[in-house]
Amino acid sequence: MPEFVELHSPACTAIWECPDGEAPLWRYWGPRLPDGVLPPGALRDERPEPSFSLHFDQPLSVFPGGGMGWFGQSALLAHRGGADWTFQAGDCAIERIDDGVRFVLRDIVARVTVTVTARLDPASDVLTLATSLRNDGDGVLDVQWLAAACLPLPEDAARVRSYGGRHNSEFVVIDDKLTRSLWRRENRRGLTSHDCLPGAVVTCDDGTAHGAQLAWSGNHAQGIEWLDDGRRQWQLGEWLAPGEVRLAPGETLHSPEVLATVSAEGADGVAQAFHRAVRARMTWPGGAMKPRPVHLNTWEGFYFDHDEAALRELADAAAAIGIERFVLDDGWFKGRDDDTSSLGDWTVDTAKYPQGLGPLARHVTGLGMEFGLWVEPEMINRDSDLYRAHPDWVLAIDGRPLLEARNQLVLDLSNPAVGEYLFEAVAALLRELPISYLKWDHNRDLTHAGNRPRHRAQVLAAYALFDRIRAAYPDVEIEACAGGGGRIDAGIAARTHRFWTSDCIDAVSRVTMQRGFLQFLPPELMGSHVGASPAHSTGRGQAMAFRCGVALPGHFGVELDVRKLGADERAGLAAGIARYKALRGRLHAGRVWRGEAPDGLLWQAHGDGDGLLLLVTRAVPTTQRHQPHLRLPMLDPGRLYHVRIGDAAPFEAEGSWLARIGLPVPPLPGEAVLACDIQPAGT
Ligand code: GLA
Repeated sequence: MPEFVELHSPACTAIWECPDGEAPLWRYWGPRLPDGVLPPGALRDERPEPSFSLHFDQPLSVFPGGGMGWFGQSALLAHRGGADWTFQAGDCAIERIDDGVRFVLRDIVARVTVTVTARLDPASDVLTLATSLRNDGDGVLDVQWLAAACLPLPEDAARVRSYGGRHNSEFVVIDDKLTRSLWRRENRRGLTSHDCLPGAVVTCDDGTAHGAQLAWSGNHAQGIEWLDDGRRQWQLGEWLAPGEVRLAPGETLHSPEVLATVSAEGADGVAQAFHRAVRARMTWPGGAMKPRPVHLNTWEGFYFDHDEAALRELADAAAAIGIERFVLDDGWFKGRDDDTSSLGDWTVDTAKYPQGLGPLARHVTGLGMEFGLWVEPEMINRDSDLYRAHPDWVLAIDGRPLLEARNQLVLDLSNPAVGEYLFEAVAALLRELPISYLKWDHNRDLTHAGNRPRHRAQVLAAYALFDRIRAAYPDVEIEACAGGGGRIDAGIAARTHRFWTSDCIDAVSRVTMQRGFLQFLPPELMGSHVGASPAHSTGRGQAMAFRCGVALPGHFGVELDVRKLGADERAGLAAGIARYKALRGRLHAGRVWRGEAPDGLLWQAHGDGDGLLLLVTRAVPTTQRHQPHLRLPMLDPGRLYHVRIGDAAPFEAEGSWLARIGLPVPPLPGEAVLACDIQPAGT
């Protein structure tokens, strides 16, 4: 019998077969197998040699290397001046670590050591994988691709859901059928991107779902490839530009981590596992998340038009309706009257704020709200003192024109002088003002990232800057923003506390975006605001109750000039805020399920199998005379439930009825959210 390595969590199992002198072979990654269930024998014994095939059979391993009988995509593409381009481990050391295993694969011909680390966390059911590559040779090793993870997918893997988009339209669902053709998504924009989220969910014919996401805020690639045995391999990793990684002798390249999970309960099971894993990676001020405070963000209410007296009035109006955090967005710093200038000059505009920001900040904190400030440290405008002093600090390629986006260029963060300047600039603000929150933006893609490509270096330097600021000011929370949702990933989640999901606050548009967000990240990180009507990004108008209902499950905020609201709208907003405060404890703990009923009804449930908060959303008007029922598969069929739909009188219903036949939903107009409460009877 060959040696096997197995990892188990409550819902998942991973098994590798470890033949002597080679990389371990993937035997299983799927729903939990009973203890002690192992493959009946060696994999090669099940695979007679096909005609016209190599006598040496190379099945999918934990790190398939190219050139030596593996004809699929290689987990490593590297060479030394054109030589040493194949990879085949000659020995494998297996080291047990907490909840996991480390495979150390040595190739003495290519003179590299690859270490694959796999941890299966029993609390989240997430398998975290990472790879490192050490150059053991005496020449430079050029690396074009190092898979962070190489995962097996079963023969019945049928469909893959990934997400694309653009500014103002994040989380566009892309559903692809898996065929024998290679499926591949790549991002080369230098940050996570609006266009291509670094993860996906694969569903099998039997309903099992496999999910993976790369915890990385830069370029990335993932591919799913059909294999000769009918399985597929799924590789995820960092996309490297030519020449970007050239390892000196003895140097090691560390991949980002991949979070991967499997659920017999489909995509929601995957989402729930991801939420548990991401929650465990978060670092909150004080060690634990406090209830997510209601935000007021000044951007769409004021844009660059900062008038200190008006902003004080806004703060008064915000505090009066229950807002808890006031975030002063773009437009507060020297000369920043529009988006053509001043990025880089992180000192207050004394024309707008003659006494500095202190009086406004203290006015805000005096009202009992936290004060937050917008910054975009990685960026610079040509029209700035910083650019005039240090034009050489931008990412550039000699001889090539500087391409601008939103009139801005990108600072070379890997230049230590730039890192130092930015730390000091941000630290000075945090030192001098009562700031407890930063909204940290990044409003353009990277193009010419240096004469030698420095995309990777830029991400690592940005992470280092976040880490340094977090270490020096541990009480400050940070929001990750990049023109809305251009930098949403599990890598930056560990360094920040909120994402700005999209610059599009139109509540109808937000419905699908937010469902996409929740596939990978938990609701408490999802910035969701009530904007003006009509929405600035789409021109569509929506009722206050609908705007509040759509914003409800995330980290709730307001992004409009509260002063301008009529009495009814203001009361509606205050009621929405009060409801969010009453429910946030339930919305931001436990699990999330997302479902659809016929006729365009969408639902989302938050909580656990017992007590559920159910949000039923209708974005478009009904086409049916009578409403479809909503099946709630997560309810316990053996229990009786106490149900309250909206404000209607409560009733009791059997779990089995609600799971199989469904909840009767009253007629809803288009653009409505109905909140329902479902509790086990007698609790
Ligand atoms: C980006 C952000 C917005 C706002 C502006 C300010 O677009 O996504 O929320 O902060 O920048 O310029």
